[in-house]
Amino acid sequence: MKTKLKMTINNKEVDFIKGETIYQVAKKAGLFIPTLCYMEGYKPSGACRICVVEDVKTGRLIASCSYPAESGMEVRTDSPQVRMSRKKIIELLLSNHPQDCLTCTKSGACLLQNLSKQYGVDEIAFQGGAKKKAVIDKASPSVERDMAKCILCGRCVTVCSEKQGVSAIDFSHRGFSTQVAPGSFKSLAEGNCVSCGQCIMACPVGALHEISHKKLVIDAIINPNKKVALQFAPACQMTFPEYFKKSISVDDATKKIIGALRSIGVNFVFDTCTAADITIVEEAKELVERLTKKNKPLPMFTSCCPAWINFIETFYPKHTKHLSSCKSPHMMKGALIKHLSEKLLKTKAKDLFVVSVMPCVAKKSETGRPQLENEGMANVDAVLTTRELFSLLDEFGIQYEKIQDSDYDRPFANASGAGKIFGATGGVMEAAIRTAYYYVTGKELDNVDYKPVRGMSEIKRATVDIAGTQVNVAVVNGLGNVVDILEDISAGKSDLHFIEVMSCPSGCVGGAGQPYNTDAELLKSRTKTTYKEDENSKIRRSHENPDVIELYDKHINEHEAHDLLHTRYKGDK
Ligand code: SF4
Ligand code: SF4
Ligand code: SF4
Ligand code: FES
Repeated sequence: MKTKLKMTINNKEVDFIKGETIYQVAKKAGLFIPTLCYMEGYKPSGACRICVVEDVKTGRLIASCSYPAESGMEVRTDSPQVRMSRKKIIELLLSNHPQDCLTCTKSGACLLQNLSKQYGVDEIAFQGGAKKKAVIDKASPSVERDMAKCILCGRCVTVCSEKQGVSAIDFSHRGFSTQVAPGSFKSLAEGNCVSCGQCIMACPVGALHEISHKKLVIDAIINPNKKVALQFAPACQMTFPEYFKKSISVDDATKKIIGALRSIGVNFVFDTCTAADITIVEEAKELVERLTKKNKPLPMFTSCCPAWINFIETFYPKHTKHLSSCKSPHMMKGALIKHLSEKLLKTKAKDLFVVSVMPCVAKKSETGRPQLENEGMANVDAVLTTRELFSLLDEFGIQYEKIQDSDYDRPFANASGAGKIFGATGGVMEAAIRTAYYYVTGKELDNVDYKPVRGMSEIKRATVDIAGTQVNVAVVNGLGNVVDILEDISAGKSDLHFIEVMSCPSGCVGGAGQPYNTDAELLKSRTKTTYKEDENSKIRRSHENPDVIELYDKHINEHEAHDLLHTRYKGDK
């Protein structure tokens, strides 16, 4: 058993365990200490010193995020000296920072802005001059960098290398010239960035944000010659109650969002969950074929996370043949909407502007992929993050009380519970198991809940018994966590048959396009809601979704299914 030691914080005795930092002990005791460079779960860099506390015995200021708690130690977290030091740090940061909070995308969620208010910084005390020559990099399809706003905290660098195993960005130059840059490249687009966007979520200020498609969408809405068809991903829907700041169900909040979108001129609103069901039908078929006919290599990788696709294409190009050929669900849906628009929506495909609202910034990178076009048109014309959707509604002055509830357009309005769990890590795997079992045995699984692949762990492994065949599966979130598995495959040492990989923590519910300030508790609560939605669904297997059955029976033949629902990867012949 670990021995409990004692120290004093703000005149109160508190317990701690050897190895804990002062910051961790204070947090456990419910005391707030501000941080900028520190991130839970990562080694502290000690770069910003905003977290200083006063050592009462020596009068020294020490960085609480990296300083280990000591037995008998006495500190104050908010003494006049501490407050003055923090205020100075904020003033120094602001002296070299653009003063454009009014137009900054991070306004309201910016740690520097919040700290300025909290520490009463009401004037710029030092005139260092904002970094006028700083880089603005908009070349990436997903991430925009405004280095004038960078406070050099290093969080993006840490996440990119330690969490995602990519290392697309790093510190360069020295002293006053220090900056975060994509190595020797001029822009993020030229280097190895896979567009996961997790650096955006890590950035405490507005130096990193998504490439906005909001203007494209507004232009399409006001264009009298265009009709706008919009779809939502399941993970976005889990955040709709958060947007309204009301304790309402996901269903009720979704009806409000659909109503609000209709009121601003969106013509059709669809549920991407139906396409998630179509993905499962196609992917489970492919898995069963790989297992039985051995026509393509195992393990098969899921293909609905574009950052993961970019990762494989960039770092493990010889493994693209392991990727399922299924398009991501919103791309399937976009392809189907355009292909069937004349027949079902009485609108010519060329007059349709398809928008996907996604929890994701990587999905923006899909809109430029030539492999995701059919009949000479992009499957999806623009991707809004969940944040952009909320900002669009704010821009149109939507008021909760005045919204008329509305429902999805038909066809493709039904979703099974399996389609709804795509947003959680392990969700695609569980949905695929439900359908693959049926394809192999011709019988339905008695209990559709496959719990070994649920939960927030970064790597989960399980063996599924499908009529006597043992199928080894793995579920991974965070790209850095899949590297060992890929190395095993390269070395011919893997016994896995099917792997789900999601780039973001906890899967798409923690996607880089979701509202900022995502803490672990919020992710847990979104995940819980996701499984509740599944549990409450009348249909819980993708292949039983009546809209999916109707699609194959009435609207597309085998050849069209192949063309519209499947894709190729870089280097494929
Ligand atoms: S988007 Fe992802 S891969 Fe690209 S720089 Fe950011 S964290 Fe790294
Ligand atoms: S871009 Fe953001 S996260 Fe990266 S070092 Fe600058 S302020 Fe920190
Ligand atoms: S995990 Fe989901 S949100 Fe994150 S990059 Fe992949 S698809 Fe996008
Ligand atoms: S938060 Fe502790 S040094 Fe930056």
